[in-house]
Amino acid sequence: MNILVIGTGYVGSTTAMVFAELGWQVTGLDTDAHKIKQLEQGLLHFYEPGLEALLRKHIQSGQIKFTTNKDLAIQSNDLIFICVGTPSRPDGSADMRYVKQVAEDIGQKMNGYKLVITKSTVPVGTQEQITAWIGAAQEQPYPFDVASNPEFLREGKAVLDALNPDRIIIGSNSKRATNLLQSLYQSVKCPVVITTPRTAELIKYASNAFLANKISFINELARLCDAIDVNVKEVSNGMGLDPRIGASFLQAGIGYGGSCFPKDVSALILTAKQNSIELSVLEKVVQVNQTQHAYLIDKTRERLGSLANKKIAILGLAFKPDTDDIREAPALRVIESLLSEQAQIMLYDPVAVLPNSAAYKAVTECSQLEEALQDADAVLMCTEWPIFRKIDWAQMKAVMNQPNVFDGRNMLDAQDMRALGYFYQGIGF
Ligand code: UGA
Repeated sequence: MNILVIGTGYVGSTTAMVFAELGWQVTGLDTDAHKIKQLEQGLLHFYEPGLEALLRKHIQSGQIKFTTNKDLAIQSNDLIFICVGTPSRPDGSADMRYVKQVAEDIGQKMNGYKLVITKSTVPVGTQEQITAWIGAAQEQPYPFDVASNPEFLREGKAVLDALNPDRIIIGSNSKRATNLLQSLYQSVKCPVVITTPRTAELIKYASNAFLANKISFINELARLCDAIDVNVKEVSNGMGLDPRIGASFLQAGIGYGGSCFPKDVSALILTAKQNSIELSVLEKVVQVNQTQHAYLIDKTRERLGSLANKKIAILGLAFKPDTDDIREAPALRVIESLLSEQAQIMLYDPVAVLPNSAAYKAVTECSQLEEALQDADAVLMCTEWPIFRKIDWAQMKAVMNQPNVFDGRNMLDAQDMRALGYFYQGIGF
């Protein structure tokens, strides 16, 4: 089977590489000629461990190729994965214009049976919409199916997740489409759920929303832990041992970010509203998340008093480790709050950089960690990059102006830090 992946962003690139790794012949299509040129040269336009190696391997094996020629790409592939972006509109709804464009292109250019599959996170009902868009654009009535096959990979762990999924969800009303998708994944060992397209679309949103729910739950509980002198890490550990609860996504911190949780939770709340249903738990999840970064700043202010002209070192900008993605990164919210209080900010992240915007002009981006800590009145840990665990804090104490560490990711050992003479506070302990 020849596979076309439309959109070579995060999900698209990973999907393309993973199908190549599974032994299929893959073409990646994008309208951005520069991106395609880079991919052809084995270069990714974002940071994702292991993915570039896979890209080079499959360029060499001839298993993957890239193009901007959509007509030819659509005509020479029977399985078409839609992996274009669905960014949030101001009201929280998903902007479907790129998906619609792709559907119309497929309708116009198709030359025989096509199975069109959505990998992007799309609102419930999208499979029906795509079916209508393709049908309306068709010049000849070639048969086609549209199925939903949501992706559950995490940034930073994309290759591992995509090659070893927990489950494969196939949302399809057509036996032909279901059979094709099952044979596509035949070598992957995991449960396969075959369901309706609407259910598949909702499973994706509900999964992300539930994980966001766990995070906001533990973050709010962390505030209680601080008030009653209990260590939230021990609470998470004790709770997580119950398999009904599970330990993952129970790490308290400065909140969730990224291109998925914030966008998907808002979109799900909106879908519910449009159907006169209130998802009140999820509304609270968002509220807790939006205030969690401020909790770290409150702790800093309690210790330092006014933050004006205080030198604050921010360690970590990316929304999580092992990525350069800063979309909705809690660190950005921390930086913006500190700037509004006239603090002096020294920022260090091993990979991520600030957007080139006037709003962040006052921030000093450091290329060395030591430079960020020089004369700092406090360090705020905003991303749990593994290298931050290896910092020689005894040595750093001598460079700092005041030994204050506020750990927004609960990644350091409180006892060790306090034994070294630091004033150390995490979130919830
Ligand atoms: C998330 C889901 O985990 C994937 O399954 C899904 O496929 C993806 O969204 C998507 O929809 O494309 P991702 O956004 O890459 O993946 O990152 P996560 O690892 O889920 O982390 C999201 C945020 O939650 C990060 O800011 C992270 O720091 C935060 N987090 C995570 C916590 O604050 N505490 C935790 O215990 C876990």
